[in-house]
Formats: sequence, structure tokens, C-alpha cells
Amino acid sequence: MDVKRRSVLMAGAAGAAGVAGVLGGVTRASAATIQGAQPTGQQAPSSESLRDLAAAIGLRVGSAIIDQDLDTPAWAAVAASQFSVVTPGNDMKWQVVEPTQGVFDWTGADNLVAFAKANNQLVRGHTLCWHNQLPDWLTTGVANGTISSSQLSGLLQRHVYTEVGRYRGRIWQWDVCNEFLTDTTPSQIDPNNFWIANAGPGIIADAFRWARQADPQALLFYNDYNIGGEDGTNAKFDAAFALAQQLLGEGVPIDGIGIQGHLDTQYGWSPQRLQADIEQFASLGLKVAITEADVRTFVNNATDQVPTDNLAQFAQPFEFSEMMKAALAVPELISFTVWGFTDADSWVPGTFTGEGYATIYDVNLNPKPAYLALQSDLALAAKGAPRRVRTYMPPA
Ligand code: XIL
Repeated sequence: MDVKRRSVLMAGAAGAAGVAGVLGGVTRASAATIQGAQPTGQQAPSSESLRDLAAAIGLRVGSAIIDQDLDTPAWAAVAASQFSVVTPGNDMKWQVVEPTQGVFDWTGADNLVAFAKANNQLVRGHTLCWHNQLPDWLTTGVANGTISSSQLSGLLQRHVYTEVGRYRGRIWQWDVCNEFLTDTTPSQIDPNNFWIANAGPGIIADAFRWARQADPQALLFYNDYNIGGEDGTNAKFDAAFALAQQLLGEGVPIDGIGIQGHLDTQYGWSPQRLQADIEQFASLGLKVAITEADVRTFVNNATDQVPTDNLAQFAQPFEFSEMMKAALAVPELISFTVWGFTDADSWVPGTFTGEGYATIYDVNLNPKPAYLALQSDLALAAKGAPRRVRTYMPPA
């Protein structure tokens, strides 16, 4: 039953078309390309931006961003002013960076890393070893037997060395391994996962070791969904906890756990349990990050994304706020990232039929109640939430 918040992934359906961007202060597209992306409402004053409020306790607030988002000046302005950490939503995935074997395209990743630097933001690298958004040449080669198990392992090693090496010293956290656990009770490492089935169970530990070799200082994360605050058995948290313990016991270089945080108002969820789960991970000596927060609900249509249930308008910001409060309570929780900041660019309508309204800005880039809830949570936190633990920071 735990498939309910499953990330049903649609390779290639990369968000709605963004329009244009500010890169290092330079507007890349003409204003004529901006359509329907102008904010019609009042923007929060910059002194009360999410990033500035969170900075008071050393917390980083982030968003997933895709390169095309930066082509819309109004979007780029929000990305720059509200967030202090950037996750490339697609542009660092293997399918994007090496579409043909040996032919690399770092355009989007480079642009996002440059944007982050220009705006004094950190970067969460996402993601090195995942079963989705792999290049066709790789999956085809494995399927037709031209890529053997040991060759597959060697290809991942080279991929990790190439990508982590390219951005060495410029990435704060890497999502090294993503979504290896089953949605069953009990949960376990999925024996049918592409990497486990084809390269063997040692591939998780190997991926972390290779990442450490390629960038000795970046914080290395295991990232997954439904591993914090689950109602019911919390089975997937247990599996993630066991995996973390096992890796640490083997001396594998893992520094943190990423809790994705894809919620849906139609399902139960426990913020108290989320806080307890974060504390449990922290008790292992790990850092924790909320990496992909969004809260979806049923909507009238994918364009306007008006909730069909009146109560959803309250439940959506409430769940965002509860997630943030659980995060704020634990000093080892070092970053809180939303998976896209505007409904106009969310992966939700294209992935979950009939659902949307999942982010903190509406389709016209007006801040929603969820934005205001996070803003007031962070304003209160600045007056009393525990300061975040110190971590490695890439040189400015
Ligand atoms: C999603 C992107 O947002 C979409 O644009 C893409 O089509 C599919 O992937 N879990 C993850 C992210 O770790 O990488 C996924 O991102 C969302 C679920």
C-alpha cells in the first residue's frame, strides 16, 4: 500500500516550459519571451526572504531548478532571492549529461552551478546512481547483454568520477544513491532495482566510495521518498535506517540522509514521526536534509491548479508548515529544499493524474499561503530554533 506517494517518474517530462533567466546578473532572454510568468501579486520584501530568515539559524532553504527556469527573468529573480541552495532538478542526471556514450552535455548543469555561484548559493548535486533517467545506450546495452555486470559497474565508476570530478569543490551535498528501497512492509533494498539486479548489491557502497574519491569533501547522501513521517508501519524508514547503519558499519563514506518529502493531502502523515525519524538518523552521526518537498492535491485542471476540495487550501500549507517545523526542531537538519517553487513548473500535474497545487507559488508566480506559512515559521525559528550544526562548505 505504500505506493501511495511513490514517485512515479516520467523521464523527459521536464517541468513545464520555463521561459528565461538571469545568469550572473545577465538576462538571457528578451522580455518578449516571457508569457504569463509575471507576478500579479505582492512579492515578499527581500529582508524577509526565506533564505535570509533561515540564515539566522544557519539553515539553508533550497529549490529544485531546471536550466530553462532561468530563462524567465521573474522566475530567476525568485530563485535568486528566496533560496540559498540550488538542486538541478534534471540537469545533472546521467540521461542529460551523457545522452550518447562518450558525448557529454554539461550545459544545463554548468549554467545552474554558475547561477548558484553568482547568487551566493550552495548546490545539491542530484543524482549519481538512480534507476530512472538513465541514458538509452546504457539501459539498452544492459538489456541486450552487450554491457556485462562488471562493465556496468565500471561505467558507473567512470560516470561518478567524471561528474563529481568536474564539479569538485563546488558541490555542498551529493545525492549519491537515490530510491533503492521497496514500498513494501517490511521494506528492503529492491532486488529488482536496475543497479542491484545488474551490477550486484555492492554497488551502493561502491558508488559512495567513488564519490568520496572524486570529491573528498562534499557531503554524500542517500536520498529516498516515504522514509520520514510515514503513517502506518514506518517500514521504509526502518529500511533506510538499517541501510545507513550497515553502510556506516562497513566504513562506507556516507554523510547524510535525504528525505524527499513528496506529500499528498489525501493521505495521512505524521510530523511528530518525521521529527523522530530525523532525530534517529542524526543519532547515527548523519546530517539530514529535506530534499524534494511538495504537497500535492486534486485540482480543477493542470493549467490553473485550483484545489477541488476546499479543505485542501488549508491542508496544503499546513503540511508544508508541519514539515518545516519538524525540520527546524533538529539541528542536524541542514537544508530544506522544495521540488520546484511554482506550480507552473511542478512535476506533479504531469506525473500524478488530476493533481497539482503542490508548490509554494501559484501558476502566476504569486506567493501562496504555503509560502507565507514557511516564511512565518522561519521568522519564529530565527528567534529560538536551534542553530544548525556546522558542516563542510565549498569555498566561495
Ligand atoms: C523528476 C523531475 O522533476 C521531472 O522533471 C522528471 O521528468 C522526472 O524526475 N524523485 C527524484 C527526482 O529524486 O529526481 C524526480 O524529479 C522526482 C522524484
